[in-house]
Amino acid sequence: MEKTIAVIRGDYSSREFVKETLRVLDRIAEKYGHTFHYVDAAMGGDAIDQYGEPLPEAELEKCRKSDSVLLGSVGGPKWDDMPGDRRPEKGLLKLRAGMGLYSNARPATIWPQLAPASPLRSDIAANGIDFIIIRELTGGVYFGDHKTENYGTEDVATDIMTYSEHEIRRIGKIGFETARKRRKKLTSVDKANVLDTSRLWRKIMHELKEEYPDVEYEDMLVDNCAMQIVKNPAQFDVIVTENMFGDILSDEASMITGSIGMIPSSSLGDTTVGVYEPIHGSAPDIAGKNIVNPTACILSAAMMLRYSFNMAEEADAIEAAVGAVLDKGFRTADNQSDGCTVLGTTEITDKILEEL
Ligand SMILES: NC(=O)c1ccc[n+]([C@@H]2O[C@H](COP(=O)([O-])OP(=O)(O)OC[C@H]3O[C@@H](n4cnc5c(N)ncnc54)[C@H](O)[C@@H]3O)[C@@H](O)[C@H]2O)c1
Repeated sequence: MEKTIAVIRGDYSSREFVKETLRVLDRIAEKYGHTFHYVDAAMGGDAIDQYGEPLPEAELEKCRKSDSVLLGSVGGPKWDDMPGDRRPEKGLLKLRAGMGLYSNARPATIWPQLAPASPLRSDIAANGIDFIIIRELTGGVYFGDHKTENYGTEDVATDIMTYSEHEIRRIGKIGFETARKRRKKLTSVDKANVLDTSRLWRKIMHELKEEYPDVEYEDMLVDNCAMQIVKNPAQFDVIVTENMFGDILSDEASMITGSIGMIPSSSLGDTTVGVYEPIHGSAPDIAGKNIVNPTACILSAAMMLRYSFNMAEEADAIEAAVGAVLDKGFRTADNQSDGCTVLGTTEITDKILEEL
């Protein structure tokens, strides 16, 4: 197969782990007879330096025209003093909106080899953590009107939270479809005891569940869900929720797996063209030292192969190679534990390539 991949190399350590990820994709192309064309697109600090803005239209267009986007991470201290609308992270919002990406998926999976690194009690971690959070990405309070007004004696700030039926239905469907491909359990998270947006959310989800009788469905309030994720994460298969709840819960879920350097993510809309990126940032504190863990980005590329290119075997091969490297006791510094061999960014990728 022939695919065009827009590559956003990002800032600071991102440039190191994206480079390693492309080596893995090259190996997959060679092994399975595919051709991947890489088109560089600038975003974040890199784009600010080159063009004065975090995602120029021409760079966004390269992403839209591609078969999918591999994104590193953007931002860092060099651009921290930029005004709000010119900061590197603004590029992310423009990319999501510009490509119509309304659904973000983040797996929370514990690699058994890394279970000791989980902050959870060992008996809870040992039960297994293997769920996905599907987060609505373009609606809710982050996209509502924001304003701060002065009422004489004090400022008053307002953020508007809005959801329409069609926004809820399309993300709800992705939740059910994802559950169908996994262990067939869907937890819909809301705050229906307080919020109107959540009551509408629940109504639509209840309509949808009639179309998916094979999927076990439950409603859960967001505060309870935050507790259950640390108390008994093994109960979850797929969680679907709105933008802000998903933002917070997915960070909580990634922490319990023990390593921020291992977690990929995907963002999709109505087409198969998605954006695939590690959940972590550009790790500016360790840039240029060849110690950043490239695995989350490499696993993001595997998700791209699986979900956008329908290359399940190739994705399985990458995930198996990562598992085999961990089994042999090779780690990057962020995951080190007694008896393991600590390798640099390039060297751990060499090991993954050997397995492939
Ligand atoms: N999607 C994105 O592009 C994205 C996401 C989060 C943060 N950021 C940006 O990244 C910059 C740095 O943010 P931050 O420091 O809060 O978060 P960060 O995720 O970059 O780093 C947090 C800590 O985790 C470590 N770390 C992160 N990823 C690692 C990896 N793969 N291997 C080893 N260690 C790793 C870092 O060294 C740091 O100590 C900021 O400008 C922030 O806005 C971008």
